Amino acid sequence: MSGWSHRHILDLASFSLEDYSSVLELAHRFRSMPVTGARKLPALQGRLVATLFFEPSTRTRSSFELAARRLSADVQSFTPASSSLSKGETLLDTARTYVAMGADVLVVRHSSTSVPEQLACALDRSGERTAVLNGGDGLHSHPSQGLLDLYTLAHHFDPDHPLPEALQDKRIVIVGDVLHSRVARSNLWALTACGADVVLCGPPSLVPQDFVAFVEAPPPGQAHDPVQHRGCVEVVRTLEEALPGADAVMTLRLQKERMHQHLLTDLNRFHRDYGLTHERLKLCGKPVPLLHPGPVNRGVELGGSLLDDHSISLVEEQVRNGIPIRMALLYLMAAVDSSPDPSLAAIG
Ligand code: CP
Repeated sequence: MSGWSHRHILDLASFSLEDYSSVLELAHRFRSMPVTGARKLPALQGRLVATLFFEPSTRTRSSFELAARRLSADVQSFTPASSSLSKGETLLDTARTYVAMGADVLVVRHSSTSVPEQLACALDRSGERTAVLNGGDGLHSHPSQGLLDLYTLAHHFDPDHPLPEALQDKRIVIVGDVLHSRVARSNLWALTACGADVVLCGPPSLVPQDFVAFVEAPPPGQAHDPVQHRGCVEVVRTLEEALPGADAVMTLRLQKERMHQHLLTDLNRFHRDYGLTHERLKLCGKPVPLLHPGPVNRGVELGGSLLDDHSISLVEEQVRNGIPIRMALLYLMAAVDSSPDPSLAAIG
């Protein structure tokens, strides 16, 4: 934890293996702690976390707010529809308004790529200490989702030591709409950093071949990759190629709202070719867990009975793990500016 240096959390391309370890280790401790009701941790007492979601959310927003409250922070929730955005106030002025009210952390979601980064840069330029945490931006990044997926998989493979090492040499298959998925992009950085090989499966319109090189170079503006050895990325077109030997399967929501071009003509056909069912998963050759970041289009990405089969589906587990992961992120960000909460030492 002592090496944590991210003031803002904008993507996972800049995360080192130590960063992943810090988040997973801390989240595992939070997950094991009874921190509801009166037994909240005082770590963020006197701090203000504002959730600025300019795009709809159920899971991310609620779990960030719950995470902040469990660490004793004050929480302010911004709702675009009833805000002064409708009177012409800019997004930056909206953010500055929350900073003026004392926000220590802004959790920002926006449908346009790089809005959280632009806000972070603007606040840095004006000397504000407020940190920005990306709650999902356009097609770019959804770091807290990537981390909760990583933790969920690590915990599945090694419940006693759910750390990055648990992913080493695993074959993780991601199926579906990779092109429009910030979750897939964050998972690619996180999983390959931990030594997993990732197989992307879908039609060329949703899984372009050039995703094989996605993690080969850091994104523009980042000088180097902090991870020395990453797992591989492969692109295949059929589940028959993808699933044999898989250790886990993740399917992604078909993002109809982002499909400005006609990339898919027929949802029934997508389900026939790429929809996951109990029968299809037998291709893996062994029982494997199924993940989905949600929200799910039942009957499209997967059969409804598979989603409800808790011996296979980790979807609710992913939601549950979102809270300790987000507690860990808020805790670590607060610790950049101050001493860590001594009450954590007691939990070992
Ligand atoms: N996975 C995810 O980001 O869900 P929400 O859109 O409900 O936050």
